[in-house]
Amino acid sequence: MPAAARIGIVTVSDRASAGIYADEGGPAIRAYLAKVLTSPWEAVERVIPDDRARIAETLIELADREGCCLVVTTGGTGPAPRDVTPEATEDVVEKPMPGFGELMRQVSLAKVPTAILSRQTAGIRGKTLIVNLPGRPRAIAECLDAVMPAIPYCIDLIEGPYLETDPAVIAAFRPKK
Ligand code: MTE
Repeated sequence: MPAAARIGIVTVSDRASAGIYADEGGPAIRAYLAKVLTSPWEAVERVIPDDRARIAETLIELADREGCCLVVTTGGTGPAPRDVTPEATEDVVEKPMPGFGELMRQVSLAKVPTAILSRQTAGIRGKTLIVNLPGRPRAIAECLDAVMPAIPYCIDLIEGPYLETDPAVIAAFRPKK
């Protein structure tokens, strides 16, 4: 049995972190991954306010100290003054991965005309892939369905654990050697 892959789930929301409403995004990401992944994994979850330094610190903690191969954030990607998740992500990644945001916006546009308002991005920090999702719980599956097929191979390339998916849900694509 391989060691469980660690996956960070970060809800970025002033109101959820203050307890004004319950966090729905984090549980939605966890449920999605539980449905898709068949290899062992464990979640490392955080709920934090829309504060650029705090988001950056949390991403660094999950990548460098908690050893997460993947960190998925939800929230703070829009144009409002407090929306700073993409900036915090850019602060900590060494390699931006713009294809993730491009694809997620493209598929989201088929669902909602306001998809273009999300500035969601992704990038690599060390052996960690960080991916931003919008804050709406229903955006989580809409976006992850699009990028999930490429995530296991991306994690192979950054020397992370071998993630396996249920092909009936999401078929992971790995180019033939
Ligand atoms: N993408 C998907 N797939 N589904 C959605 O409902 N909502 C949009 C957009 N992208 C949405 C979406 C809206 S209304 C906004 S304002 C932006 O994401 C940013 O959301 P955030 O600030 O909560 O991250």
